[in-house]
Amino acid sequence: MKYSILSLFPEQVYDALRFSMTARAMDRGLIELNLVQIRDFAINEYGQVDDAPYGGGRGMVMMCEPIYNAWRSVVAQSDANNCDQIVNHVDEKSQTTIQDSSAHTIFLSPAGKTFDQKMALELSKKSHIAFICGHYEGVDARVIEEIGAYEVSLGDFVLTGGELAAAVMIDAITRLLPGVLPDEEAWQLESFSGGLLEWPQYTRPRVWRDRAVPDVLLSGHQANIERERDISRLVETITKRPELLKGQSIDRTLWELVAKRFEDPLF
Ligand SMILES: C[S@@+](CC[C@H](N)C(=O)[O-])C[C@H]1O[C@@H](n2cnc3c(N)ncnc32)[C@H](O)[C@@H]1O
Repeated sequence: MKYSILSLFPEQVYDALRFSMTARAMDRGLIELNLVQIRDFAINEYGQVDDAPYGGGRGMVMMCEPIYNAWRSVVAQSDANNCDQIVNHVDEKSQTTIQDSSAHTIFLSPAGKTFDQKMALELSKKSHIAFICGHYEGVDARVIEEIGAYEVSLGDFVLTGGELAAAVMIDAITRLLPGVLPDEEAWQLESFSGGLLEWPQYTRPRVWRDRAVPDVLLSGHQANIERERDISRLVETITKRPELLKGQSIDRTLWELVAKRFEDPLF
């Protein structure tokens, strides 16, 4: 998987990812980070990439042309490197043949669709994702329209720039790529992949500050342990994120066991 980072601070993304799982994925060639400095595409010799907003107001807005040219350079590279993955198809409206580059472009924006595990899984099937990171007061809206970038938000808050949002997305997507996690199926049991939260985890010691690990986890009886995990992930989801249960089909017997757990006075 290739990730292109179009940014005024692309090293921030690299720095955030050079630890643990993502660092190993880079070292093993499972992911490649292509850092694209937007300032290299500045409109003049002073390195200008931003200007004051039309209509007045505070701060600076990133200009169209440097971002567009930076993006074109990424698409051109992508076309050259992935000729076999480029699909020619006819645009229904214009009846012109357009070339889909294999680079899937995302613009990080508080106004975008909120990133989640489902989106991470969809994106993990791409071969090249280009991230456009805004900074300052944001980006001239016309360049995002022209590129046709998909807007993605990390949540309802405002970050200083899109760089950390891109790094978070890359981390979540990379975990889902074949060969990245030691156990390929590990992520399928994690929170959100099956629609629910993961069950609570415990490790040694068996009793800590009078809090004991559930006996069944020490029983060595695998079927009972699996059942306990099914119950406790459901209890966890009902307690902490009940909205995740919408649309989930849960086995009736399991529901009854969960209901009993809530009736238990010791629970
Ligand atoms: C300081 S923010 C600009 C915020 C903008 N003026 C607004 O009020 O929506 C600069 C850049 O950070 C990135 N950014 C900020 N919050 C984000 C979020 N929640 N998700 C993804 N990117 C975000 C975007 O790329 C944005 O262009």
